Amino acid sequence: MNSYTDFASLYDELMNDFDYEAWADYVERIYDKYDIKPKDILEMACGTGNLSFELAKRRYNLVCFDLSEDMLSKAYKKLGKYKNVKLLELNMIDFNINKSFDSVISICDSINYLTNKDELFQCFKNVYKHLKDGGMFIFDVNSFYKLKHIIGNNTFVEDREDIFYTWQNYYDEEENICEFYLTFFKDDGNGRYNRFDEDHMERAYTIDEIIKLLKKAGFSKVEFFNAFTFDNPLETDERINFVAVK
Ligand SMILES: C[S@@+](CC[C@H](N)C(=O)[O-])C[C@H]1O[C@@H](n2cnc3c(N)ncnc32)[C@H](O)[C@@H]1O
Repeated sequence: MNSYTDFASLYDELMNDFDYEAWADYVERIYDKYDIKPKDILEMACGTGNLSFELAKRRYNLVCFDLSEDMLSKAYKKLGKYKNVKLLELNMIDFNINKSFDSVISICDSINYLTNKDELFQCFKNVYKHLKDGGMFIFDVNSFYKLKHIIGNNTFVEDREDIFYTWQNYYDEEENICEFYLTFFKDDGNGRYNRFDEDHMERAYTIDEIIKLLKKAGFSKVEFFNAFTFDNPLETDERINFVAVK
C-alpha cells in the first residue's frame, strides 16, 4: 500500500478546515474532566505534527511518532525548534520506547489504519505498557456508520485553486475495510498538473469491539463520547472519542 508519501506535501493544505487548536482544547478538557495533569505525552501517528504543534506551545513534553517518513519530515519543519518535542519513526503496532508517559494520544482516525483486530490489540497492549499507573489513553475513530454508510462506496471530488483530487472508496462488507483510492492533480505553477495516486485502508470497528480489546489489554476504565463533546454517541455520529485509564 502506498499511503502518506506524496500526499504528505498536500496534507496540511487539504486539512485546512480541521481546527487543531480546538482539538488540543478538547484533549485538555478531557484531562480537566478526569482531573489529571499530564506532563509527558506520547502522540502516536502524529502525521505532519499539527496537534503536536498546538500541544508543544502549551509546554507539554512530547514524544511523537509516525510510520511515514514524508509526514514526519513535514512535522520536523514545524517542530524542530521545540526542545520539548522528540520525533520518531515508529509503527503503532510494535513501537518500543524506553519510557513511560502520563498520557498517550492519537487523533484524526489514525487508529482505523490498523486493519485487523490483532494489530489493534497489539497497539493497545503497547500503549498500556507505555503508560504510568493512572495514565490516560485518548484516541478517536471514524465511526462504523461513517466508514460504511458515508465514505464507503462513495466518490468525492474536490476542485481547489491549485489542487484537483478525487477520492474513490470501496467498502468490503466482510472485512469491514474501506479502501480509498486518492488521485491528486497538483498545479506545478507553470500551468502543468502533476498527477499522483495513493491507496489507503481504514477498518471500521464497532464501539463494542474497541471496548473489548481495550479491556483485554488491561485498561480498567473505558469511556467514549461523540467527539469534541462528552455526550453519548448516536448511531449516526461520525467520530467517536475514547478515553481509557490504566
Ligand atoms: C489521517 S492521518 C492523521 C495524522 C495526524 N494525527 C493528524 O491529526 O493530522 C493518519 C496518520 O497515521 C499514520 N499511520 C498509519 N498507520 C500507522 C502505523 N501503523 N503506525 C504509525 N503511524 C501510522 C499515517 O502515516 C498518517 O500520518
